[in-house]
Amino acid sequence: MPKLILILATQILLLTTVSSTGDYARTVNQKRLLKKEKLTHLRVYWHDIISGKNPSSIMIQPWVSNSSTAFGSISMMDNALTSDVPINSTVVGQAQGFYAGAAQRELGFLMAMTFAFKTGKYNGSTITILGRNTVFSKVREMPVVGGSGIFRFARGYVEARTKWFDQKSGDATVEYNCYVFHY
Ligand SMILES: *[C@@H]1O[C@H](CO)[C@@H](O)[C@H](O)[C@H]1NC(C)=O
Ligand SMILES: *[C@@H]1O[C@H](CO)[C@@H](O)[C@H](O)[C@H]1NC(C)=O
Ligand SMILES: *[C@@H]1O[C@H](CO)[C@@H](O)[C@H](O)[C@H]1NC(C)=O
Repeated sequence: MPKLILILATQILLLTTVSSTGDYARTVNQKRLLKKEKLTHLRVYWHDIISGKNPSSIMIQPWVSNSSTAFGSISMMDNALTSDVPINSTVVGQAQGFYAGAAQRELGFLMAMTFAFKTGKYNGSTITILGRNTVFSKVREMPVVGGSGIFRFARGYVEARTKWFDQKSGDATVEYNCYVFHY
């Protein structure tokens, strides 16, 4: 009798798991995975600190020698994201990634960064932003191309507005309003 149960159990298992003989994909019932789609607005302040003893953003590749627009430069960042403009306000996450001078005739960067949230219900969740940032424009829009945790299947956009820029040091604080669809 136990043998029969074992055989039955094995057969059920075989029916419900993907077999290991090259059959590597299957359609999943969406109802098991997805809840109603939500739209979340997050407002955070991004602090690009390139000066001083502890910069959070470091140029790892200088721009091409004759460029007046930082073309070819690459900066790696681990910038604090705070809930308000002052850098000593509550840190809610980190912006990790890089920006690269991508325009020859204007100051324009390719931004490739993940906002990793560290507080509240968003702790451990991320959104990834990839887009064009012409830093002297009043508002720069960039796509949110994905996310993890609460932000699985994320898509959306951000609006970036410079709130503070120190011409001497190059340090800046930028407001990011993020509009994210997720489940
Ligand atoms: C920079 O140098 C390259 C190669 O010599 C040249 O093709 C390009 O036009 C120069 N750019 C500027 C902005 O002078
Ligand atoms: C943040 O810094 C400002 C000026 O440096 C100071 O007045 C304020 O008390 C600080 N706030 C906190 C929460 O530490
Ligand atoms: C965020 O999650 C990490 C890992 O689970 C935990 O160590 C940390 O205390 C959490 N932080 C907050 C502010 O909840």
